[in-house]
Amino acid sequence: MNATIPNANSVIGQPLSRVDGPDKVRGTARYAAEFDIPDLAHAALVHSTVAAGRIAAIDTARAVAAPGVLCVVTHENAPRLPYKEMKTRPPVDPQSGEQLHVFQGPDILFNGQPVAVVVARTLEQAEHAASLVAVTYAADGQATDFDAAEPERPAKATEEGGRPAEAGRGDADGALAKAPVSVDVRYSQPREFHAAIEPHVTIAEWDGDRLTLHDKTQWVDNAANEIAHVFGMGKDAVRVISPFVGGAFGSGLRTWPHVTIAAVAARAANRPVRLELTRRELFQSVGFRPRTDQHLMLGADPDGRLRALVHEACGETSVYEEYAETTVKPSLSTYACDEVRTSYRLRRLNTNTPCPMRGPGTVTGVFGLECAMDELAVALAMDPVELRLRNHADRDQAKGLPWSSKELKACYATAAERFGWHRRSPAPRSMRDGDLLIGWGMATAVYHANRSAASASATLHPDGSVVVRSAASDMGPGTYTSMTQVAADTLGLPPERIRFELGDTAMPSAPVHGGSITMASVGNAVAAACRALQAKLGELATCARQGPFAGAPIADVVAHDGGIGRREPPYRVVAYEALLKQHNLTHLEATATSAPGSETDDYSSSAFGAVFVEVQVDPELGTVRVPRMVGAYDVGRVVNPKVARSQCLGGMVQGLGMALLEQGEWDPRFGKVMNANLAEYLVPVCADVRELDVTFVPGSDTNFNPLGAKGLAEIAICGVAPAIANAVFHATGRRIRDLPITPEKLLL
Ligand code: MOS
Repeated sequence: MNATIPNANSVIGQPLSRVDGPDKVRGTARYAAEFDIPDLAHAALVHSTVAAGRIAAIDTARAVAAPGVLCVVTHENAPRLPYKEMKTRPPVDPQSGEQLHVFQGPDILFNGQPVAVVVARTLEQAEHAASLVAVTYAADGQATDFDAAEPERPAKATEEGGRPAEAGRGDADGALAKAPVSVDVRYSQPREFHAAIEPHVTIAEWDGDRLTLHDKTQWVDNAANEIAHVFGMGKDAVRVISPFVGGAFGSGLRTWPHVTIAAVAARAANRPVRLELTRRELFQSVGFRPRTDQHLMLGADPDGRLRALVHEACGETSVYEEYAETTVKPSLSTYACDEVRTSYRLRRLNTNTPCPMRGPGTVTGVFGLECAMDELAVALAMDPVELRLRNHADRDQAKGLPWSSKELKACYATAAERFGWHRRSPAPRSMRDGDLLIGWGMATAVYHANRSAASASATLHPDGSVVVRSAASDMGPGTYTSMTQVAADTLGLPPERIRFELGDTAMPSAPVHGGSITMASVGNAVAAACRALQAKLGELATCARQGPFAGAPIADVVAHDGGIGRREPPYRVVAYEALLKQHNLTHLEATATSAPGSETDDYSSSAFGAVFVEVQVDPELGTVRVPRMVGAYDVGRVVNPKVARSQCLGGMVQGLGMALLEQGEWDPRFGKVMNANLAEYLVPVCADVRELDVTFVPGSDTNFNPLGAKGLAEIAICGVAPAIANAVFHATGRRIRDLPITPEKLLL
């Protein structure tokens, strides 16, 4: 039953306010730390103060004797954990190396590694007792200097994970040597942190051999699976609950060591335990965007057509895991070019392992590529938009496939028009506002569109309401709201009659809430579950011996405005709830799964965008302000323009942080981030953010998935940092190639 009578008042596309907004404003939305568990005890961690070596001695006597302490766990008394290998590693984990095995031995792999956990009746007692644990170390063999570490070719496992050490086509180096115009430039970006407001926290509670975790996570199913493997249990023995997430941006994709520690502590204390990471601990416990150096060489004809593109990148990883990013991938498909070479290398340091953050890899690579394109435009004396149009990729050359949809040219045109780009005078330092130098810059944004199998259930209740469930997550983008709209739209019900629930492994399984895949994955599952419910209702309507549709073939019975009716007019509609009543049912439930099919063999899918920014640079102080930013995006169908716009505002602000403010200050002497707090790790505040203008170009990508949505999140951070860097060049004539663009770099 695929056909529905077209719904004149489609709920999809409406700017519905967040359905969970009132709960969040009232404080009744419960985040992981906020669950009231009887007898809850509290945990505090003790961390290594050296970057490499061994624990020589650990003395917990004073901690054990401190008031309120229930237990202290170290490598000397911790249970040996199986850490069973997973058959297939989840895509959010590094594909080679071993995750940190907590309290399994004396070895120290990084400064800040947990070496003990103290459980006490109150948090204050736990923190005090943790300060009494005395540890001595035999420090040895520390590798903490990025520049001194040898770049290594990523292992085979990385290639299998789609992040090869080398990729390309043609003879890029040969073509580069022959190109009439070329640029050869290096960029870098420091270690950056997710800096979500909600800290990571886990409440662990054992009931015999069953474990319940209230956890901050972007993927409850994977958290259950990973912890089950760590403890050598069946996956069904672990339940993970995570209804609200206060921002995560990638830090909640993996299941981190502190989740295991919470479970170990709860078992040792024989009580439910809450382990909440402090702000300082977040900087050493849940990953970060790795520092990455990039080298780009572009060759072009005088008419601007790219003849050669070489992109080499080198990131940092830990000594125990190989975290690789897709940094060089945008260079393989963003522009038409027959001669491309990319390479990717890693440097291993004594640090905790980096992880995906806010458009991982792509955002970094697009920063390099889009700055280099701007430098090429200057070398060619060509408008930077024109250069991009001349190299527009009509198909994905990396995959050798057409795009499932692509409205990038419309993005350039729309954003340029809204920005007023035609009024730009091209020469650097040629635009001023009083004493301030004005710069206008732009960049292309790309973010691959992916989709994973997802399941959902839809249950009709006698009051006519429908509860839709999927073990998805909502770290802020508005999953609760947009899924409510998809369900309402499919069922022809007003959104008030839908309740969407997520964040519990007891629900039908969902993929990771990351990589901007939630709408394309869970959205289609929700629509499929609602259609399955309709089909069941249609059968009820049809098989009624007497009733409005006695004898009608199922194919003729369709959903219509909250009920079931005939396909051909005149419609007779019988309300969903009336059907339940007729058949003496307390409820009716349907479950469905939606998965990608052969379309991935036929098409390459990506979100696209164009970002234009204005900067004001004070030549005396070196300060950069961004009075306005204009973005136009092709994200396929927009389910809710209000939350979609909010997503883009957030992404633009994150891009502004990347361009001007964010940097982890890594001290190679200690192997430690020195500004591990929100006073010194700078993120944009309201005063930094001025006018942000967001437009979605019309489109619906039904080649990619039935809903037509390409996924919207990370595309919005993409392109912002290079647009700002390019605008700073236009304002000042200075290329700052090392992020962030801080005043001292402009004054030097
Ligand atoms: Mo995103 S870095 O996939 O949460």
